[in-house]
Amino acid sequence: MRVPATTANLGPGYDCLGLALGLHNEVTLSRADEVQVAIEGHGAEALPRDGSHLVLQAARAAAEAAGEDLPALALHQINRIPLARGLGSSSAAIVGGIVACNELLSLGMSRERMIDIAAEVEGHPDNVAPALLGGLTVCCVIEGRVLVERMTVAPGLSCVVAIPDHEVPTTEARSALPENVPHADAVFNLCRSSLMVAALVSGDFEVLDEATRDRLHQPYRAHLVPGMEDAIDAALGAGAHGACLSGSGPTVAAFVTERGEEVGETMVNAFAQVGVSAEAAILALSSEGAQVFR
Ligand code: HSE
Repeated sequence: MRVPATTANLGPGYDCLGLALGLHNEVTLSRADEVQVAIEGHGAEALPRDGSHLVLQAARAAAEAAGEDLPALALHQINRIPLARGLGSSSAAIVGGIVACNELLSLGMSRERMIDIAAEVEGHPDNVAPALLGGLTVCCVIEGRVLVERMTVAPGLSCVVAIPDHEVPTTEARSALPENVPHADAVFNLCRSSLMVAALVSGDFEVLDEATRDRLHQPYRAHLVPGMEDAIDAALGAGAHGACLSGSGPTVAAFVTERGEEVGETMVNAFAQVGVSAEAAILALSSEGAQVFR
């Protein structure tokens, strides 16, 4: 099966908004006599080769939720999503493990149930929902259940990503956030988050400059992502409609309808100005989420 990369938050929609992107990992699970893990691509050297691999942890969570024991499995993973860069690599692993396990063991779980389990394993819902469903997703977690709305983005928009060559662990980026925020900042984000969803669906991309602005997480994470603000400004100056930190970073995502290569180049240059090496990619938005091939 294959699972898309995702970009979460989209600026103001912290822990709520997410988009599926046209970059995919492949996950294959099959029954085996003992646990086997084969990994190609990102993390091939570093990721665990036993049952602690995140795909297998997620598969176990799915089996247990259905009241089954997880049998010994062979995992083959092809990783194209870079790790710990804010592009949903862990969500892709978790969704891959749950959906593949659901198929292999014929657990018969609904997509809603799989999103609940995935969000519990991940700790937040905004990457796992688009990884499973594709498109644009809006999530609310209510006592462990994820209420999710999936929408299709109006045509013509692409996501240019500038991916720094250092990792930012999500746990570190989350612990940088304050316990409380000013009411005015909450209102600032509420307006822009709603504007973001409306603009993505209607195709009124001109408002994305304002709609990607955020006061709830990016300012508190800026010290973890040197060059973030410069890269955002550079993208807007080069013709992006809007730009923001992708998930918890360090990738910066810019939304474009044209001039994608220039936007990518100028973001990479902005990171280079502060001594951070980064690489750019132009990614389509993906209306498909996790897809199973038998
Ligand atoms: N909403 C999450 C965060 C996304 O910003 O911590 C992590 O990719």
